Amino acid sequence: MNKERGRFGSQLGVVLASAGSAVGLGNIWRFPTEVGKGGGAAFILIYLSFIFLLAMPVMLSEFIIGRSARSNAISAFQKLAPGKPWVVTGMMGVLGGFLVLSFYSVVAGWTLHYVIVSGLGQLHIQGGADFGQAFAAFVSHPWRPILYLAIFLLLTHLVVVGGIHHGIERYSKLMMPLLFVIIIVLVGFSLAMPGAAEGIRFLLRPDLSKLTPDVVLSAMGQAFFSLSVGIGCLVTYASYFSQETRLVKSAMNVCVIDTLVAVLSGFIIFPTVFSIGIAPDAGPGLVFITLPNVFALTFGQMPFLGYVFSLLFYVLLLLAALTSSISMHEICTAFISEHFSTSRRKATVIVTAICLVLGSFCSLSFGPWKDVTLLGRGFFDLFDFTVTKFLMPLGGLLMTLFVGWYLDRQLVEQQLTNNGSVPVRLMRPLLFLIRWVVPIGILAIFLNEILPLFIP
Ligand code: PHE
Repeated sequence: MNKERGRFGSQLGVVLASAGSAVGLGNIWRFPTEVGKGGGAAFILIYLSFIFLLAMPVMLSEFIIGRSARSNAISAFQKLAPGKPWVVTGMMGVLGGFLVLSFYSVVAGWTLHYVIVSGLGQLHIQGGADFGQAFAAFVSHPWRPILYLAIFLLLTHLVVVGGIHHGIERYSKLMMPLLFVIIIVLVGFSLAMPGAAEGIRFLLRPDLSKLTPDVVLSAMGQAFFSLSVGIGCLVTYASYFSQETRLVKSAMNVCVIDTLVAVLSGFIIFPTVFSIGIAPDAGPGLVFITLPNVFALTFGQMPFLGYVFSLLFYVLLLLAALTSSISMHEICTAFISEHFSTSRRKATVIVTAICLVLGSFCSLSFGPWKDVTLLGRGFFDLFDFTVTKFLMPLGGLLMTLFVGWYLDRQLVEQQLTNNGSVPVRLMRPLLFLIRWVVPIGILAIFLNEILPLFIP
């Protein structure tokens, strides 16, 4: 069975596919929202340290587990710790994969809608004066957002069905560099807006008075979501790494690329936001409601530039979402095809079908099912909450404990050094992060999110 497993064809493919998973709506849509709420530069500083001190070691732990077991997120734990309860970590991961793909595809579907609307040159017409209303009308429509969700899931499906080398790796190699080019162009546009300097100041000059414990903790949560760690996504990807893949170097590269995209997204959003005088803490509407205003303004003065700007932006968001959604899909597909010994094609169909149903529930919770709640939350919120506030921190905690305290130290060092062939100078500090810093840090974030639920 192992001989038939897919492989990434090159080191570049490994880094681009993992970076493709990391870079997504989390960077371009969620990061600026959080920065806006967290007061700008101070949030960014904390976020950067959490990326490298907490999320990166979890990523490394996932790489170690995945490459040494060479199997899907659940069997990996069964292989490395047979008969032990560690397998629950993998089960949580696969469950997380289904949930995250379901609600993520809803937002990705909205993005697809905005690509089409702006591509047709109708973004300015659609909103009239009020883009907030247009957005609300669209997301609460009973079937239109579901149609876009379905199309997005189908796109994801088509890449995943192609397998590792010909599907995921090939598309990542094409899409990631394209993404980068689009981002740089957009930063250029944004910096040229009148009054952009105010936004740059917001991003670079820390206001430490904004740093409440809550902001510190949401920076941690953002770091985990953004690097796709904690739900076995990278365990699954690492199972396709070759023995030559350098784990530490790959993890560092992915963290740097992900951070760069997040920070550059800030440089796309905030100079324009300040330029037209919108509150930086406008929330999740920043991308779908606020930015169309920016585009409309540009349309007024320079119609062609405005058209290009808006279309490029939503295409970029869609591409980023797609390279992430395929990695979520792969967690579930790899498990189903290996565990039930079904063909990859069949496993892919099963995952897509389940996520289409669950995703429709999430989409409906913005419209006809607004009042349908479970544990006090609509489906979208419930799935989002379960993944980012529960499964990811708990999964990350368990994975670092597993690698730091359960796995044989020699095996861990062999994985990090590729059997001694690459020297890892930072071995001791890395192991210290994995054994101590990360578990304690995650425990703090986790308790902060969960305790208030029980203590009114
Ligand atoms: N990291 C992705 C993003 O920033 C989201 C993601 C989460 C991807 C979990 C895979 C697994 O958009």
